[in-house]
Amino acid sequence: MNEETRMVFGVDYYPEHWPEDRWSTDVRLMKEAGFNMVRLAEFTWSLLEPEEGCHDFRWLDKIIGMLHENGLGVMLCTPTAAPPEWLMHKHPEIYPTGLDGRVRGFGSRRHYCSNSAVFREYTEKIIQAMATRYRNHPAVMAWQLDNEFGCHDTVRCYCEDCAKGFGKWLEAKYGDIGVLNQQWGTVFWGQQYPSFDRVILPKPTICDAPKYGLFAHNPGLILDFFRFSSDSMVEYSDFQVRILRENGVTLPITHNFMAGFYDIDYFKLAEGLDFVSWDCYPHLTGANLDSYHEIAYQHDKIRGYKNMKFWITEMASGPLGWNIMSRTPNPGQLRLWTYQAVAHGADGILYFRWRPCLFGTEQYWHGVLDHDGIPRRRYQELKQTREELQKLQDVILQTDNDSQACIIHSFDNEWSHGYQPHSPGFSYNNLLFSMHYGLQKAGINCDVRDMQADLSAYRLVVFPAYNISSPEEAQKIREYVENGGTVVFTFRSGGRDSCNKITGETLPGYFRDLLGIDVIDYDALADARVPLDGLLPHSEASFWCDVIDPRASQVLSTYGSEYYAGSPCVTLNPYGKGRAVYIGFQTDPKTYANLFSHLYPDASFLEPCDAIETVRRKKGDESFAFLLNHSNNSLSLQVFCPFTDLATGKTHRKEIDLVPYDARIVRFL
Ligand code: GAL
Repeated sequence: MNEETRMVFGVDYYPEHWPEDRWSTDVRLMKEAGFNMVRLAEFTWSLLEPEEGCHDFRWLDKIIGMLHENGLGVMLCTPTAAPPEWLMHKHPEIYPTGLDGRVRGFGSRRHYCSNSAVFREYTEKIIQAMATRYRNHPAVMAWQLDNEFGCHDTVRCYCEDCAKGFGKWLEAKYGDIGVLNQQWGTVFWGQQYPSFDRVILPKPTICDAPKYGLFAHNPGLILDFFRFSSDSMVEYSDFQVRILRENGVTLPITHNFMAGFYDIDYFKLAEGLDFVSWDCYPHLTGANLDSYHEIAYQHDKIRGYKNMKFWITEMASGPLGWNIMSRTPNPGQLRLWTYQAVAHGADGILYFRWRPCLFGTEQYWHGVLDHDGIPRRRYQELKQTREELQKLQDVILQTDNDSQACIIHSFDNEWSHGYQPHSPGFSYNNLLFSMHYGLQKAGINCDVRDMQADLSAYRLVVFPAYNISSPEEAQKIREYVENGGTVVFTFRSGGRDSCNKITGETLPGYFRDLLGIDVIDYDALADARVPLDGLLPHSEASFWCDVIDPRASQVLSTYGSEYYAGSPCVTLNPYGKGRAVYIGFQTDPKTYANLFSHLYPDASFLEPCDAIETVRRKKGDESFAFLLNHSNNSLSLQVFCPFTDLATGKTHRKEIDLVPYDARIVRFL
């Protein structure tokens, strides 16, 4: 691509859904909107190989050729998310098996088990054929693997192949069955296994009572099964990358990740890819203002998986739905969502989908055009957005997100808390989200990373419910704080080892010396709420209260009721040149914001306002920010640090007026 079109703007196109004589109109309209990339082919295996071994690439050649002639690039997808009927008929053993023991059959998509050796053979053949045909095609700019690995609950499979695979995985990990028995504690209820091939898959047991949140499996077995399932999907992804590379593909390879999906360790999946992408549907999360925080959280997580910029492979471009529909985006919202994605690190955006289909499951999932193929307001809005952003692309491409804080996300903790949430209704991810939201409200931008991160890059590192850990991690965190960093830990931290066993040390276990406190009792609140005093009046604890002996730490806040009324609930321990803060309960984003503002006053450069999101960027010594008005209201806000609006060239020293759904990029003076 030439210098002028370096930011990627495109659409997800399904030419196979339309008569060929419409294709030239579509390509012309795409070109007129200024799109420069089109994603193709992720569900077309049945067309590319209508019968076993008979390939037909004519239609794909033709559309790629037309796009190329018109200056549009192509993101080509491997088509494995939709294995064809002839393959499934011949090899029904490829189908995944559900937790209920039932085979999950034909009729939608993703009907394969990633551990099926037969499926791997066929995967190899179809990808080989595509790679050899298109590896040197000048239109092809990038490859996407499959489509949304794990979507529709397809990571954890209970088939024979998985049972065998799990045994082998465990053997490679533990070597000796005695070690596994000891690490899982199978002596409990006399569950010792004689050999790896006799270890069960965690199917429903006698004791399970989902209605009451009761699941009886050994926590060590569960955690390892979730890890094995995730590893299987990651291995399948890496397998696809290998086939593409072995067959001459040198272009960047990505995969479309999903929001709010945690069955695959995305940090591991990202390792095998050149860059990460995700599918972003803001109005699916709800119409309230919280939803923009949720999307911000997802963007930050996606950026963190590889610690680099990313693409949006599917961005909402209209009302959404399969059987019922979402609200339609208001005028200005598609533009705003695009700016928000770019603000958080997206330098490529493809809108889903070009035109809604007239048939099939997704008839109601709208796109840039309407069913009748006519470009209307959404098309015009995206065209204008592309024009604006292209003018500012140097700033966008040359600046990086400027995050002062980092939240540590761990899939081991995700899975451990998921099975045993400690307190009814507790969700590890909601906790992370609330703390991210609180940081945003306090004007502190944030990365979301795992423990591989270089902690010294941040002023503040947050460890929500960081329960599974190790002495090595604790040492890394201590060094960070000794050198001046600030950490914030919460309840349910430091208590479990990597086999999901409770260590038996006084909580917060691995972090007890760093935090300078002892947790001497605790209270799983369920629906109860406990008022807070001290630094956080008018706030409440939810889900959990740790009863804390502060030893030598400073007490920032106390509980306001229960037998532990008046006892500490937020503590701060000066440690080396840094600070170690402990929060013994869960609370709401506003209260987190108050707490973070106490630790870092004056982080905001704009008058705080619920509807406004600010995202900082930097390039060397130069500082920039995105201002995003997520409300349908005009707002006038006080400016604390003067800046120049890059689009208008106007400098704002005291205040700025924002129109509904406004989005600006500014440079600080
Ligand atoms: C995404 C998926 C697309 C399409 C879309 C609308 O999750 O990747 O293929 O199905 O949802 O349902």
